[in-house]
Amino acid sequence: MNNLISQNKLLNTRRGLLKAGGISALALMTGTAKAFSQGVDFKNSENISDDQLFAEVRAELMLKPGLIYLNTGTLGPAPQLVFDKVSMMMKRLEGNPAAENFGPMGQEMEKTRAKIASFMGADEDEIILTRNTTEGISTVCSGIDWTAGDEILTTNHEHGGAETGLNFLKATKGAVIKKMTMPYPAQSKKQLLDLVKSNLTAKTKMLLLSHVETVTGLRWPIKEVSELIKGRDILFIVDGAQAPGMLHIDLHDLGCDVYACSGHKWIMGPKETGLLYMRSAVQAQVNNVFLSGGYRVYSASSGTRNAPNIIGFGDVAQWHMAIGTKRIEKRCMELAAYCYSEMAKVEGIKIISSDKAELGSAIVSFSLPEGKKNGDFRRIMNDKNYTIKSLPQYNAIRISNHMFTTNEDVDKMLAELKIYLA
Ligand SMILES: Cc1ncc(COP(=O)(O)O)c(C=O)c1O
Repeated sequence: MNNLISQNKLLNTRRGLLKAGGISALALMTGTAKAFSQGVDFKNSENISDDQLFAEVRAELMLKPGLIYLNTGTLGPAPQLVFDKVSMMMKRLEGNPAAENFGPMGQEMEKTRAKIASFMGADEDEIILTRNTTEGISTVCSGIDWTAGDEILTTNHEHGGAETGLNFLKATKGAVIKKMTMPYPAQSKKQLLDLVKSNLTAKTKMLLLSHVETVTGLRWPIKEVSELIKGRDILFIVDGAQAPGMLHIDLHDLGCDVYACSGHKWIMGPKETGLLYMRSAVQAQVNNVFLSGGYRVYSASSGTRNAPNIIGFGDVAQWHMAIGTKRIEKRCMELAAYCYSEMAKVEGIKIISSDKAELGSAIVSFSLPEGKKNGDFRRIMNDKNYTIKSLPQYNAIRISNHMFTTNEDVDKMLAELKIYLA
């Protein structure tokens, strides 16, 4: 009981506007269906300034005191209110595992697909809940028919997680992988569209692009690419690992066939959560044993799932929607613009991210000069309580500016960079 009271206190005393409305420990422990269906109440957020709102978001995180966290592109920090709910559900599950997992908690878990669909601008029956981006893309690549010699068009800036599926198609079905060499920094949408156009052939059967590139943070004009290849027999897969949670997403408007994403990066959700979107019209092309039982979260072919984690994934998506996904995107882009402009003043480095707003994202990456090693800088920064990402490909460092980042974080990081370069 003590535990219950302290959990309740923890939630009820959460300060400020972004409180966990409805996520009451007592209700969770008593197990009413209503308790599960209640989400996070951010109704008041419309009436407060951006600075106040995002300060509240920052206060909701559990980052170590003093840590400057600039690596959401690898893993995002979860808000405490979601973490608390998931933790409590995990505990409750252990009280009566089978009855919980296949009872009310299982039913609540099934509602996550609808929440994710709404977050992504898709229909519920187009969404599959996966463990991460890699699994989503691999599920598609291991489930489609392929004629040896047919081509996959992609770039030299894709992540290994996405390439796993492509390499599987190459090894098992004779796919030919063609990698376009990416310009960095990219200059215009036209430059990118021309690059795709000039590399398409009659044999191109799949196109895989990142919505936001893992290396430079380049934002591909996905809608325009969808229009460019319309009418051709090409499966357009978008690796969205770095986009939702940062950018407002409307999948039907983007027009791609497949979109895969992780919940544990910019969405800041429980770890090992992800989504796979398949446009209704392409679903028949993907036959995979794991989907043979249908797209429900728990089915004969999916086997048992982690219900608390998956419920938490739905909750964190609701949290983003309550803050406002367009508002989050605007904030992230403002932070990135500041980061870019201050970084541009640092002598000796080369920014490899695009300075064009339409091609940019919340990721800003820079290469270090000869004689300076990105791994060394990352380690030094780690010791000074900064988390940043090193990119071996270009001896570069990647900075992720999520909504909880501040200009002051960027100033401090760049001050350390100048000391390192001196
Ligand atoms: C563009 C991109 N795709 C895929 C992945 C793999 O993500 P996960 O490990 O969650 O599958 C990453 C991870 O950083 C990424 O940046």
